[in-house]
Amino acid sequence: MVRLGIMASGRGSNAESVLRACREGRVQAEGAVVVSNKTSARVHDVATEYGIPSFTICRDQFSSGKVFADKLISTFREHGVDVILLAGYMRKIPPALIRAFPKAILNIHPALLPKHGGKGMYGERVHENVIREGDTETGVTIHFVNEKYDDGAIFFQQGGVPVRPDDTVQTLAARVLKVEHESYPKAVQLWIDTVYTGKGQT
Ligand code: GRF
Repeated sequence: MVRLGIMASGRGSNAESVLRACREGRVQAEGAVVVSNKTSARVHDVATEYGIPSFTICRDQFSSGKVFADKLISTFREHGVDVILLAGYMRKIPPALIRAFPKAILNIHPALLPKHGGKGMYGERVHENVIREGDTETGVTIHFVNEKYDDGAIFFQQGGVPVRPDDTVQTLAARVLKVEHESYPKAVQLWIDTVYTGKGQT
């Protein structure tokens, strides 16, 4: 069974959507470990609910970026993680972690990249930008993680989410979030069926 490592900084609704899909058999994987940079993040409660260990690991706890990256890598390795899912993880991923998990770190972004992405483009700002630019459609992107924000190869996209004239950031964010919750499980299963299977690990 494919083992998932999840990194999240906040409420963890995307983490929950993937874990629920695993439990319901829509994704052929199991949650292995959750890592957050915040002790108070709700994603820890989600992990507990699903019986998965969760840890707070943040850069400030370590004397160097290298020791921090080593801790992340050893945590995921010790828990037998095959793929790491960023689900609202608000920090840069150390390059050493990216090298340790080639083609095996995914991120979800609440818009249609390459538009509305990059440094500082997170949370409400994404939807604000979509509205400001007058887009009539938005969506969800799941992409591989590289060393830049929202820049890695696009792996899965779901468009067709309407932007209505009377939308606020909140109404739009809620509409997109529903689609995120459908998309991340689908993308994870697609990763398993293509990338993971292609590595000869079935
Ligand atoms: C989601 O909108 C995700 O696309 C973005 O951060 C948000 C996280 O929400 N990267 P949640 O913690 O999964 O509820």
